[in-house]
Amino acid sequence: MSALSGRTILVIIGGGIAAYKALELIRELKKRGAAVNAILTRAGAQFVTPLSVSALAGSPVHSELFDLTHEAEMGHIEFSRAADLLVVVPATADLMAKMAAGIADDLATTTLLATDKPVMIAPAMNVRMWLHAATQANLATLKARGIAVIGPDEGDMACGEFGPGRLAEPQVIADAVEAALQPTGQPLKGKKVVITAGPTHEPIDPVRYIANRSSGRQGYALAEAARDLGARTILVSGPVSLAVPPGIEVLPVETAEEMLEATQAELPCDIAVFAAAVADWRPADRHEHKLKKDGKATPPEIKFSANPDILRTVGHLKEGRPPLVVGFAAETDKVIDNARTKLAAKGADVIVANDVSASTGIMGGNHNRVQLVTAGGVEDWPELDKREVAMRLMRHFAQMLAEKGSS
Ligand code: CTP
Repeated sequence: MSALSGRTILVIIGGGIAAYKALELIRELKKRGAAVNAILTRAGAQFVTPLSVSALAGSPVHSELFDLTHEAEMGHIEFSRAADLLVVVPATADLMAKMAAGIADDLATTTLLATDKPVMIAPAMNVRMWLHAATQANLATLKARGIAVIGPDEGDMACGEFGPGRLAEPQVIADAVEAALQPTGQPLKGKKVVITAGPTHEPIDPVRYIANRSSGRQGYALAEAARDLGARTILVSGPVSLAVPPGIEVLPVETAEEMLEATQAELPCDIAVFAAAVADWRPADRHEHKLKKDGKATPPEIKFSANPDILRTVGHLKEGRPPLVVGFAAETDKVIDNARTKLAAKGADVIVANDVSASTGIMGGNHNRVQLVTAGGVEDWPELDKREVAMRLMRHFAQMLAEKGSS
């Protein structure tokens, strides 16, 4: 998995003829799994339109420092907080000068001054401007402050001259961003993570069963993320049509009772994540032979019994309870209230809640928007690809586990 998966990059687009290449960079970063926020400077907007930037980034583009509607949603501080890395493309002579001097006179420069995240610049300008002593002095200042500089390349320039000043290729910039975010270690190395996923099938007779529409995708993505973060990963999976991911021990089960048994057999573990859509009830009688029509067209009556609640069982274990127990709550109303109730009732440390009302398009879709509910409060996450959600969640759980260990 790419180091960009589950990461957020803030792309700041300066005003230069190379600004169109920032669009290619955004496309490349998204392709590698990153979420992208964008700031388009006023000069940048002379070269690319806000509409093309936001269409490619998949999020609204921002330009103004005192834009009240956006300031309410995302001001310069939020921009910096949400990002894992900031990249300025193209970094014009003017932007570099302002950064070096600490000038903050628009949203881009204010965000750059306010951030404590890694910053990269990809300069592009006329060769004489690049070679000018002022620009070279600014460059030295920025480098000395730890700002990474990609390019510029040498070659024919739009202004008809030849020399250094061309923007580095978007692929190269994306490579540099990815390399900068390469994890410096695997936070779940040496840890064991058990994840339940998919639906359960509850048999009526040898050929019929009760099921639900869970695809298992979120649970499988979580397992891959746990593996990529170094964990020994056990996936207790109901029947799904997903390929067995390499490097993960998959334990296939059918019913809720089998899922409980397989999960308990894998304890102790460090993190247990309950992403399965377990059937709450099962047919009380499992007929050994196929139910036949009785000739009078009377449909059979199916009686149900309650299934074990796997999360609740593990969450309340007196002995051998995993240090971090994670549950999911798919709700259509009172999302947070219901999630809080579940957190307490099931003995979980965190509930990942999402609103699955039909209007959200989350059920069966590729995107998810989650809220993390713990005893300490609620965290709102932006809408992201399900794989990105999975990577972010696993990183977050790794962090929670580490904090528990040190407290
Ligand atoms: N869960 C479980 N075993 C069950 C039922 C649920 O482990 N028999 C877990 C799920 O994997 C999920 C959480 O509990 O982590 C969801 O709780 P549940 O009460 O089933 O949620 P909903 O289906 O959203 O519940 P409700 O019917 O209360 O809306």
